[in-house]
Amino acid sequence: MTGADTDALLVTSGLTRTFGRLVALRNLAITVRRNEIFGVIGPNGSGKSTFFNLVTGFIRADAGEITFDGAPIANLPATEIVRRGIARTFQGTRLFRGLSVRDNLLAAAALRSPVNWWDGLLGTPVLARAEAASGRRADELLAMISLTARADAKAGDLPYGDQRRLELARALATGPRLLMLDEPAAGMDAAETKALLDLIKDLRKRENLTVIVVEHDMELIMNLCDRVHVLAQGETVFEGTPAEVQAHPKVRDVYLGADEEAAA
Ligand SMILES: Nc1ncnc2c1ncn2[C@@H]1O[C@H](COP(=O)(O)OP(=O)(O)OP(=O)(O)O)[C@@H](O)[C@H]1O
Ligand SMILES: [Mg+2]
Repeated sequence: MTGADTDALLVTSGLTRTFGRLVALRNLAITVRRNEIFGVIGPNGSGKSTFFNLVTGFIRADAGEITFDGAPIANLPATEIVRRGIARTFQGTRLFRGLSVRDNLLAAAALRSPVNWWDGLLGTPVLARAEAASGRRADELLAMISLTARADAKAGDLPYGDQRRLELARALATGPRLLMLDEPAAGMDAAETKALLDLIKDLRKRENLTVIVVEHDMELIMNLCDRVHVLAQGETVFEGTPAEVQAHPKVRDVYLGADEEAAA
């Protein structure tokens, strides 16, 4: 186990969240290592988005700990968690639909900007430098998601697949170390999904990112992830490499069980 601890970027232990009498997540223990692509899968309602909402400070845990880069983050506000370097996308897109594609990226970059209110008021060099840097980064991200030509289009006017990629770029505009993607391929066709897979792999390398991805698209998960964590009804079923997950009878039972419930 040498180096295991320094390798860990995100660690949860005993993480539990209930909604009324429903236990959405029970005693979740997850360790995500630096620079890995970590998949979280499970049938509908198994707690995947709840896990994302807890880590990113959108909701609070009833019990348990969340450690990011060695520091506890479970009680920090969502904006502070972004500043620490965790960015996410949502299961449905949450873009500023009336803003341009480029302005969506600039608004996200402002979340981590070093600019204070008086810099804005006085037009200090800090403001000018930060704006120039955000602008360059926005252009770089636009090129990365092949939307340079649509920079001035309203985000809400983009086709759905483009909106999903813009949402990913917007998360990147905050300068994360950990990127959390909640069903990034939902609504994408096979070609778009393949391009997304290549983009995420490329990003990991280029930006030295750690990625957690929730997806129902098993082909994407199996081709993308180093390790996969399987949830069912808020509890861990199994964790392993994609090949181990595919071969494990318990995992098949979970999905078959869910199918039978859906069919009943
Ligand atoms: N704000 C909430 N209020 C009440 N119940 C909630 C809330 N958020 C989630 N739940 C419930 O918690 C359980 C887990 O939900 P969660 O959204 O985490 O599932 P999921 O694995 O992301 O599912 P899906 O694959 O459908 O997105 C579900 O039963 C859900 O109905
Ligand atoms: Mg979900």
